[in-house]
Amino acid sequence: MIRDGRDPAAITEAAQVLAGGGLVAFPTETVYGLGANASDERAVAGIFAAKGRPSDHPLIVHVPDAAAADHFALRVPPVARKLMNAFWPGPLTLILPRRPEVGAAAAGGQDTIGLRCPAHPVAHALLLACEQASPPVHGVAGPSANRFGRVSPTTAQHVASEFPSDLFVLDGGATPVGIESAIVDCTRGLPVLLRPGTLTREQIEAACGERVRLPDEVAGAAPRASGTLESHYAPDAKVRLMDARSLQTALDLLGPDAKAIAVYARSILRGSAGQMRRMPDDPAEAARQLFAVLRDFDATGVKLIWVETPPDAPEWEGVRDRLRRASAG
Ligand code: TXA
Ligand code: MG
Repeated sequence: MIRDGRDPAAITEAAQVLAGGGLVAFPTETVYGLGANASDERAVAGIFAAKGRPSDHPLIVHVPDAAAADHFALRVPPVARKLMNAFWPGPLTLILPRRPEVGAAAAGGQDTIGLRCPAHPVAHALLLACEQASPPVHGVAGPSANRFGRVSPTTAQHVASEFPSDLFVLDGGATPVGIESAIVDCTRGLPVLLRPGTLTREQIEAACGERVRLPDEVAGAAPRASGTLESHYAPDAKVRLMDARSLQTALDLLGPDAKAIAVYARSILRGSAGQMRRMPDDPAEAARQLFAVLRDFDATGVKLIWVETPPDAPEWEGVRDRLRRASAG
């Protein structure tokens, strides 16, 4: 059932569901998460079961503030502290060494843990209420609230459409960022950007004062993690990325046969595609819309989605990454 996330009674009830070992879907500024008490192994197993996700894939644990990170992190390396100070609350997940006695199931058995302090009023209220619940819940494990391999949800209705109707969903409206958090691994000496988000690599480097590596620059850094699998975030329709000229040529060739195709492009194109939508010129706006646009196209039953490749610029990296995965495989 969908409950109004601005209703304090709904927040209290949701915190009680989590304290009792149940699942609650909740909004964050990036995408909706499917939450469980991060310290309750059975509750965490419930997330993996509901999502249909392999249980050795680590989940992100949401905390209300930087101080709460100490409950899960064995230590906070200086670089991680700088990033917390700069970007928390916000769309940044930090991988830190894990206290061996907590969160093993949420961490997919790894000796590290992914922590994030979300900047969404409903998520924040929920996390605070969780600390007051009995028993208290010190962190909420929450992957994106979609079935494994599907597009992440940016509205409560997206979440409700993929899970049984008795799932408790807190509605916080459409999420303002629209793609998942950037993930920086702070356990390898040098910070490693495991997943790009809307924060650019330059912004992250400026805040931590050192170079940020990519996974392929660091031996053994490629994580066992669904957010980093090729062919992830995929709609039902097949996604193809093309530059504007190839797109126009393909549309011209198809002529009236383009009806079964949806097009999402920044450039103005001629043709009679079944669906045509403009991708915003502003990368933040494009990120905000991306997953809802893919879902809307799917709902019309098109078989192909042709997307104009976004610019090769740092502020587009998150959107490019998600589109690359949506079009893989
Ligand atoms: O914006 C977000 O990050 C959303 C919202 C709900 O917070 N969450 C999200 O979670 O995208 P999920 O489970 O769909 O993606 C989590 C990713 C994993 O796929 C993995 O890449 C990484 O986080 N991760 C989590 N813990 C990790 C760890 N200990 N080591 C390496 N990677 C980890
Ligand atoms: Mg996900």
